[in-house]
Amino acid sequence: MALVIAVDGPAAAGKGTLARRLAAHFGLPYLDTGLLYRATGRRVLDEGADPADPAAAERAARALDPADFTRTDLRNPPADAAASKVAAIPAVRAALLDFQRGFGAAKGAVLDGRDIGTVVFPEARVKLFVTASAAERARRRHAELAARGAAPSLEEVAAEMAARDARDAARDVAPLAPAKDAVLLDTTELDAEQAFAEAVRIVESLQ
Ligand code: C5P
Repeated sequence: MALVIAVDGPAAAGKGTLARRLAAHFGLPYLDTGLLYRATGRRVLDEGADPADPAAAERAARALDPADFTRTDLRNPPADAAASKVAAIPAVRAALLDFQRGFGAAKGAVLDGRDIGTVVFPEARVKLFVTASAAERARRRHAELAARGAAPSLEEVAAEMAARDARDAARDVAPLAPAKDAVLLDTTELDAEQAFAEAVRIVESLQ
């Protein structure tokens, strides 16, 4: 099988930055699978429907098109919450599975998400589970939102993130959890450069 690197973990652990850099380093395509759920949630909100409504959410997942992924409103608190609500619906996950598998199957890829190592690519050669303390993740997410001009308080960001991680970890289908053979990478004390160097070392040790 082509080299697939699965990067899973909770919100704001540094998965996206890390996965993008790994993809560039190893010459692999990169897929941010959270965008699929975010775009699905956004479509449901646009319809005025409830992201927890299975029929509306499945319809939105099946109707996704490339323009949905370039929207500028996919990374704010309403989109975070809508994404994790649609992501708990089995029919939504089923609708998005073939695309994710197809993306990595031919030439390999780096994919980041919650269930890449457990469900999407259980045979991936490299599985990283990237974590950081809840306080550090809230601090990072708050700084990211503030840099974009949105300014919910640190407490609000921490509470929303805790609710989202709890929903992602508690759902029946593809819950957030490390695969049995995943390597844990705790980035609490690491900057982006150190996390990247450590991840490269792990990938190379598994090849
Ligand atoms: O990774 P990101 O924070 O963009 O993901 C947004 C939401 O999408 C997550 O909170 C989770 O509910 C869902 N998700 C998922 N499975 C993935 C990627 C994201 O359930 N592989």
